[in-house]
Amino acid sequence: MIRLVFLLFITTVISSSVYRPIVLMHGIIASAHDMDELAGWLRTSFPGIYVTSIEIGNGAEDSFLWPLEKQVEHFCRHVLADEHLRQGFNLLGYSQGSIIARGALERCSLPVHNLITLSGVHQGVFGVPYLIMLPAQFRELITKYAYEKPVQNTISAANYWRDPDRLKRYTSECHFLPDINNEHEVRNETYRANMLKLNAFVMTYSDIDEIVAPRHSGIFMGYAPNSLHVETWNNSRQFTEDLIGLRTLFEQGKLYTFTSHVKHQDVPHKPNKDFLIKNIFPFLNNTLS
Ligand SMILES: *[C@@H]1O[C@H](CO)[C@@H](O)[C@H](O)[C@H]1NC(C)=O
Ligand SMILES: *[C@@H]1O[C@H](CO)[C@@H](O)[C@H](O)[C@H]1NC(C)=O
Ligand SMILES: *[C@@H]1O[C@H](CO)[C@@H](O)[C@H](O)[C@H]1NC(C)=O
Repeated sequence: MIRLVFLLFITTVISSSVYRPIVLMHGIIASAHDMDELAGWLRTSFPGIYVTSIEIGNGAEDSFLWPLEKQVEHFCRHVLADEHLRQGFNLLGYSQGSIIARGALERCSLPVHNLITLSGVHQGVFGVPYLIMLPAQFRELITKYAYEKPVQNTISAANYWRDPDRLKRYTSECHFLPDINNEHEVRNETYRANMLKLNAFVMTYSDIDEIVAPRHSGIFMGYAPNSLHVETWNNSRQFTEDLIGLRTLFEQGKLYTFTSHVKHQDVPHKPNKDFLIKNIFPFLNNTLS
Protein backbone atom coordinates (compact mmCIF):
# COMPACT_ATOMS: atom_id res chain seq x y z
CA MET A 1 0.00 0.00 0.00
CA ILE A 2 2.68 2.46 1.02
CA ARG A 3 4.63 1.49 -2.03
CA LEU A 4 1.60 2.16 -4.23
CA VAL A 5 1.03 5.59 -2.71
CA PHE A 6 4.69 6.35 -3.19
CA LEU A 7 4.52 5.28 -6.81
CA LEU A 8 1.46 7.41 -7.40
CA PHE A 9 3.22 10.33 -5.76
CA ILE A 10 6.31 9.91 -7.92
CA THR A 11 4.26 9.50 -11.07
CA THR A 12 2.32 12.66 -10.29
CA VAL A 13 5.44 14.65 -9.57
CA ILE A 14 7.17 13.48 -12.72
CA SER A 15 4.25 13.85 -15.07
CA SER A 16 3.30 17.26 -13.76
CA SER A 17 6.79 18.61 -14.11
CA VAL A 18 7.83 17.37 -17.54
CA TYR A 19 6.62 19.61 -20.30
CA ARG A 20 6.06 17.86 -23.59
CA PRO A 21 9.10 18.54 -25.83
CA ILE A 22 8.79 20.87 -28.79
CA VAL A 23 10.25 20.44 -32.26
CA LEU A 24 10.66 23.57 -34.40
CA MET A 25 11.02 23.62 -38.17
CA HIS A 26 12.26 26.78 -39.87
CA GLY A 27 11.21 28.27 -43.22
CA ILE A 28 12.79 28.68 -46.63
CA ILE A 29 16.10 30.56 -47.06
CA ALA A 30 16.68 30.31 -43.34
CA SER A 31 18.45 28.06 -40.91
CA ALA A 32 17.57 26.62 -37.53
CA HIS A 33 18.92 29.81 -35.92
CA ASP A 34 15.93 31.71 -37.22
CA MET A 35 13.89 29.91 -34.55
CA ASP A 36 16.28 30.73 -31.68
CA GLU A 37 14.34 33.73 -30.43
CA LEU A 38 11.11 31.76 -30.25
CA ALA A 39 12.93 28.83 -28.63
CA GLY A 40 14.21 31.23 -25.98
CA TRP A 41 10.70 32.44 -25.10
CA LEU A 42 9.53 28.84 -24.89
CA ARG A 43 12.34 27.88 -22.50
CA THR A 44 11.52 30.87 -20.30
CA SER A 45 7.78 30.15 -20.26
CA PHE A 46 8.10 26.39 -19.72
CA PRO A 47 11.09 25.83 -17.43
CA GLY A 48 12.99 22.62 -18.10
CA ILE A 49 11.31 22.00 -21.46
CA TYR A 50 13.26 20.26 -24.25
CA VAL A 51 13.09 22.38 -27.41
CA THR A 52 14.92 21.38 -30.56
CA SER A 53 15.14 23.26 -33.83
CA ILE A 54 15.78 21.03 -36.83
CA GLU A 55 18.34 22.11 -39.39
CA ILE A 56 17.92 20.88 -42.95
CA GLY A 57 21.27 20.04 -44.51
CA ASN A 58 23.61 23.01 -44.44
CA GLY A 59 20.89 25.50 -43.61
CA ALA A 60 19.63 28.32 -45.80
CA GLU A 61 20.79 26.98 -49.17
CA ASP A 62 19.62 23.44 -48.72
CA SER A 63 16.25 24.75 -47.54
CA PHE A 64 15.50 25.69 -51.15
CA LEU A 65 17.88 23.45 -53.08
CA TRP A 66 16.65 20.19 -51.61
CA PRO A 67 13.34 18.87 -52.86
CA LEU A 68 10.81 18.57 -50.06
CA GLU A 69 10.72 14.77 -50.28
CA LYS A 70 14.32 14.79 -49.18
CA GLN A 71 13.79 17.48 -46.55
CA VAL A 72 11.00 15.45 -44.98
CA GLU A 73 13.13 12.29 -44.95
CA HIS A 74 15.92 14.23 -43.30
CA PHE A 75 13.52 15.72 -40.76
CA CYS A 76 12.08 12.30 -39.86
CA ARG A 77 15.53 10.76 -39.46
CA HIS A 78 16.57 13.50 -37.04
CA VAL A 79 13.42 13.34 -34.99
CA LEU A 80 13.30 9.55 -34.80
CA ALA A 81 16.93 9.44 -33.67
CA ASP A 82 16.35 11.88 -30.80
CA GLU A 83 15.66 9.93 -27.63
CA HIS A 84 14.07 12.97 -25.96
CA LEU A 85 11.24 12.78 -28.45
CA ARG A 86 10.32 9.10 -28.08
CA GLN A 87 7.39 9.76 -25.78
CA GLY A 88 5.87 12.35 -28.04
CA PHE A 89 6.16 16.06 -28.72
CA ASN A 90 4.44 19.16 -30.02
CA LEU A 91 5.50 20.18 -33.51
CA LEU A 92 5.68 23.73 -34.83
CA GLY A 93 6.56 24.61 -38.43
CA TYR A 94 6.94 28.08 -39.90
CA SER A 95 6.37 29.01 -43.56
CA GLN A 96 7.80 26.22 -45.77
CA GLY A 97 8.43 24.39 -42.48
CA SER A 98 4.65 24.03 -42.15
CA ILE A 99 4.47 21.41 -44.88
CA ILE A 100 7.73 19.75 -43.89
CA ALA A 101 6.22 19.29 -40.43
CA ARG A 102 2.85 18.09 -41.69
CA GLY A 103 4.43 15.88 -44.37
CA ALA A 104 6.66 14.28 -41.75
CA LEU A 105 3.74 13.67 -39.41
CA GLU A 106 1.70 12.07 -42.21
CA ARG A 107 4.48 9.98 -43.73
CA CYS A 108 6.53 8.97 -40.73
CA SER A 109 3.67 8.56 -38.23
CA LEU A 110 5.49 10.72 -35.69
CA PRO A 111 4.04 10.85 -32.15
CA VAL A 112 2.80 14.44 -32.38
CA HIS A 113 0.35 15.80 -29.82
CA ASN A 114 -0.38 19.27 -31.23
CA LEU A 115 0.63 20.36 -34.73
CA ILE A 116 1.08 24.11 -35.07
CA THR A 117 1.92 25.96 -38.24
CA LEU A 118 2.72 29.68 -38.49
CA SER A 119 2.05 31.41 -41.82
CA GLY A 120 2.33 28.13 -43.67
CA VAL A 121 1.81 27.12 -47.27
CA HIS A 122 -0.68 24.27 -46.90
CA GLN A 123 -2.57 24.99 -50.10
CA GLY A 124 0.55 26.01 -52.00
CA VAL A 125 1.84 29.34 -53.24
CA PHE A 126 1.44 31.04 -56.59
CA GLY A 127 2.70 34.41 -57.72
CA VAL A 128 5.77 36.54 -57.62
CA PRO A 129 5.89 37.65 -53.97
CA TYR A 130 7.08 34.30 -52.71
CA LEU A 131 9.82 34.10 -55.32
CA ILE A 132 11.37 37.39 -54.25
CA MET A 133 13.10 35.43 -51.54
CA LEU A 134 14.86 33.25 -54.10
CA PRO A 135 17.97 34.13 -56.13
CA ALA A 136 16.90 35.77 -59.42
CA GLN A 137 17.92 32.92 -61.70
CA PHE A 138 15.49 30.61 -59.95
CA ARG A 139 12.41 32.76 -60.32
CA GLU A 140 11.83 32.22 -64.00
CA LEU A 141 12.51 28.52 -63.65
CA ILE A 142 9.52 28.33 -61.36
CA THR A 143 7.11 30.70 -63.11
CA LYS A 144 7.73 29.01 -66.49
CA TYR A 145 8.82 25.47 -65.78
CA ALA A 146 7.61 24.64 -62.28
CA TYR A 147 6.15 21.26 -63.22
CA GLU A 148 9.10 20.03 -65.30
CA LYS A 149 10.91 17.22 -63.58
CA PRO A 150 14.37 18.85 -63.35
CA VAL A 151 12.81 21.85 -61.60
CA GLN A 152 10.75 19.65 -59.30
CA ASN A 153 13.92 17.81 -58.41
CA THR A 154 15.92 20.95 -57.67
CA ILE A 155 13.90 23.76 -56.10
CA SER A 156 11.80 23.19 -53.01
CA ALA A 157 9.28 25.94 -53.83
CA ALA A 158 8.34 24.13 -57.06
CA ASN A 159 7.07 21.29 -54.88
CA TYR A 160 4.21 23.47 -53.64
CA TRP A 161 3.72 25.78 -56.62
CA ARG A 162 -0.02 25.62 -57.14
CA ASP A 163 -0.97 27.31 -60.39
CA PRO A 164 -4.77 27.77 -60.50
CA ASP A 165 -4.68 27.72 -64.31
CA ARG A 166 -2.81 24.42 -64.41
CA LEU A 167 -4.34 22.45 -61.57
CA LYS A 168 -4.33 19.19 -63.55
CA ARG A 169 -0.58 19.47 -64.07
CA TYR A 170 -0.16 20.51 -60.46
CA THR A 171 -1.96 17.40 -59.28
CA SER A 172 -0.16 14.99 -61.55
CA GLU A 173 3.32 16.50 -61.83
CA CYS A 174 4.01 18.45 -58.67
CA HIS A 175 6.02 16.09 -56.50
CA PHE A 176 5.11 16.93 -52.95
CA LEU A 177 2.06 18.98 -52.03
CA PRO A 178 -0.61 17.05 -53.97
CA ASP A 179 0.71 13.90 -52.33
CA ILE A 180 0.62 15.05 -48.71
CA ASN A 181 -2.71 16.79 -49.40
CA ASN A 182 -4.09 13.45 -50.65
CA GLU A 183 -5.20 14.93 -53.97
CA HIS A 184 -4.23 11.91 -56.07
CA GLU A 185 -6.70 9.38 -57.41
CA VAL A 186 -5.71 6.88 -54.73
CA ARG A 187 -5.64 8.38 -51.28
CA ASN A 188 -3.10 7.38 -48.70
CA GLU A 189 -5.23 6.45 -45.71
CA THR A 190 -2.19 6.47 -43.44
CA TYR A 191 -1.85 10.22 -43.97
CA ARG A 192 -5.44 10.78 -42.91
CA ALA A 193 -5.20 8.39 -39.98
CA ASN A 194 -2.08 10.17 -38.73
CA MET A 195 -3.74 13.59 -38.94
CA LEU A 196 -6.75 12.28 -37.03
CA LYS A 197 -4.50 11.21 -34.15
CA LEU A 198 -3.77 14.85 -33.39
CA ASN A 199 -5.07 16.45 -30.24
CA ALA A 200 -5.15 19.79 -32.06
CA PHE A 201 -4.15 21.21 -35.44
CA VAL A 202 -3.49 24.93 -35.14
CA MET A 203 -2.88 27.17 -38.15
CA THR A 204 -2.15 30.87 -38.42
CA TYR A 205 -1.76 33.32 -41.26
CA SER A 206 -1.01 37.03 -41.29
CA ASP A 207 -3.43 39.49 -42.86
CA ILE A 208 -0.49 41.62 -44.02
CA ASP A 209 1.75 38.78 -45.20
CA GLU A 210 3.67 40.17 -48.19
CA ILE A 211 5.34 36.88 -49.18
CA VAL A 212 2.88 34.00 -49.13
CA ALA A 213 0.28 34.26 -51.89
CA PRO A 214 -2.47 33.60 -51.22
CA ARG A 215 -2.02 34.53 -47.55
CA HIS A 216 -4.85 32.19 -46.65
CA SER A 217 -2.70 29.24 -47.67
CA GLY A 218 -1.58 29.51 -44.05
CA ILE A 219 -5.02 28.27 -43.01
CA PHE A 220 -5.33 25.76 -45.84
CA MET A 221 -7.18 27.87 -48.36
CA GLY A 222 -6.02 28.28 -51.96
CA TYR A 223 -7.08 29.82 -55.24
CA ALA A 224 -10.23 28.47 -56.83
CA PRO A 225 -9.68 26.80 -60.22
CA ASN A 226 -8.80 29.30 -62.98
CA SER A 227 -9.03 32.25 -60.68
CA LEU A 228 -7.12 34.38 -58.23
CA HIS A 229 -9.97 34.31 -55.74
CA VAL A 230 -9.48 32.31 -52.62
CA GLU A 231 -11.83 29.37 -52.33
CA THR A 232 -13.72 29.01 -49.05
CA TRP A 233 -13.08 25.93 -46.98
CA ASN A 234 -16.45 24.37 -47.50
CA ASN A 235 -16.18 24.77 -51.29
CA SER A 236 -12.76 23.20 -51.50
CA ARG A 237 -12.21 19.56 -52.32
CA GLN A 238 -9.89 19.28 -49.34
CA PHE A 239 -12.89 19.84 -47.07
CA THR A 240 -15.80 18.40 -49.01
CA GLU A 241 -13.94 15.12 -49.51
CA ASP A 242 -12.13 15.32 -46.18
CA LEU A 243 -8.95 14.26 -47.98
CA ILE A 244 -6.61 14.40 -45.00
CA GLY A 245 -9.26 14.62 -42.30
CA LEU A 246 -9.55 18.39 -41.90
CA ARG A 247 -13.33 18.35 -41.89
CA THR A 248 -13.35 15.62 -39.29
CA LEU A 249 -10.87 17.54 -37.13
CA PHE A 250 -13.06 20.63 -37.53
CA GLU A 251 -16.19 18.72 -36.52
CA GLN A 252 -14.35 17.31 -33.51
CA GLY A 253 -13.36 20.82 -32.44
CA LYS A 254 -9.67 20.08 -32.94
CA LEU A 255 -8.98 22.59 -35.70
CA TYR A 256 -7.97 26.10 -34.67
CA THR A 257 -7.08 29.11 -36.80
CA PHE A 258 -5.70 32.51 -35.82
CA THR A 259 -4.96 35.67 -37.74
CA SER A 260 -1.79 37.57 -36.92
CA HIS A 261 -0.73 40.99 -38.13
CA VAL A 262 2.98 40.99 -38.96
CA LYS A 263 5.25 40.79 -41.97
CA HIS A 264 6.16 37.29 -43.05
CA GLN A 265 9.76 37.42 -41.84
CA ASP A 266 8.65 38.72 -38.45
CA VAL A 267 6.36 35.77 -37.67
CA PRO A 268 8.76 33.95 -35.28
CA HIS A 269 10.24 37.21 -33.96
CA LYS A 270 9.68 40.06 -31.54
CA PRO A 271 6.88 41.91 -33.43
CA ASN A 272 4.76 38.74 -33.11
CA LYS A 273 5.71 37.85 -29.53
CA ASP A 274 2.46 38.90 -27.84
CA PHE A 275 0.36 37.13 -30.48
CA LEU A 276 2.31 33.91 -30.05
CA ILE A 277 2.20 33.94 -26.27
CA LYS A 278 -1.52 34.65 -26.23
CA ASN A 279 -2.68 32.27 -28.97
CA ILE A 280 -0.04 29.62 -29.49
CA PHE A 281 1.64 29.02 -26.15
CA PRO A 282 -1.53 27.54 -24.61
CA PHE A 283 -1.18 24.67 -27.11
CA LEU A 284 2.38 24.04 -25.91
CA ASN A 285 1.52 24.23 -22.22
CA ASN A 286 1.06 20.50 -21.69
CA THR A 287 2.99 17.71 -20.05
CA LEU A 288 3.86 14.13 -20.89
CA SER A 289 1.55 11.74 -19.14
C1 LIG B 1 0.31 26.99 -18.33
O1 LIG B 1 -0.90 26.55 -17.71
C2 LIG B 1 -0.90 26.78 -16.32
C3 LIG B 1 -2.12 26.07 -15.75
O2 LIG B 1 -3.27 26.43 -16.42
C4 LIG B 1 -0.89 28.28 -16.07
O3 LIG B 1 -0.90 28.54 -14.70
C5 LIG B 1 0.37 28.86 -16.69
O4 LIG B 1 0.37 30.26 -16.58
C6 LIG B 1 0.49 28.49 -18.16
N1 LIG B 1 1.78 28.90 -18.67
C7 LIG B 1 1.93 29.60 -19.80
C8 LIG B 1 3.31 30.01 -20.16
O5 LIG B 1 0.99 29.92 -20.51
C1 LIG C 1 1.28 5.78 -47.78
O1 LIG C 1 2.39 6.46 -47.23
C2 LIG C 1 3.30 5.62 -46.54
C3 LIG C 1 4.32 6.52 -45.90
O2 LIG C 1 4.91 7.39 -46.83
C4 LIG C 1 3.90 4.64 -47.52
O3 LIG C 1 4.78 3.77 -46.84
C5 LIG C 1 2.79 3.83 -48.16
O4 LIG C 1 3.32 3.01 -49.15
C6 LIG C 1 1.74 4.76 -48.80
N1 LIG C 1 0.60 4.00 -49.25
C7 LIG C 1 0.05 4.18 -50.44
C8 LIG C 1 -1.17 3.37 -50.72
O5 LIG C 1 0.49 4.97 -51.25
C1 LIG D 1 -19.14 28.06 -45.78
O1 LIG D 1 -18.23 28.72 -44.93
C2 LIG D 1 -18.52 30.07 -44.77
C3 LIG D 1 -17.39 30.73 -44.02
O2 LIG D 1 -16.80 29.86 -43.08
C4 LIG D 1 -19.86 30.21 -44.09
O3 LIG D 1 -20.17 31.57 -43.91
C5 LIG D 1 -20.92 29.55 -44.95
O4 LIG D 1 -22.16 29.57 -44.29
C6 LIG D 1 -20.55 28.12 -45.25
N1 LIG D 1 -21.46 27.58 -46.22
C7 LIG D 1 -22.02 26.38 -46.09
C8 LIG D 1 -22.90 25.94 -47.20
O5 LIG D 1 -21.80 25.67 -45.15
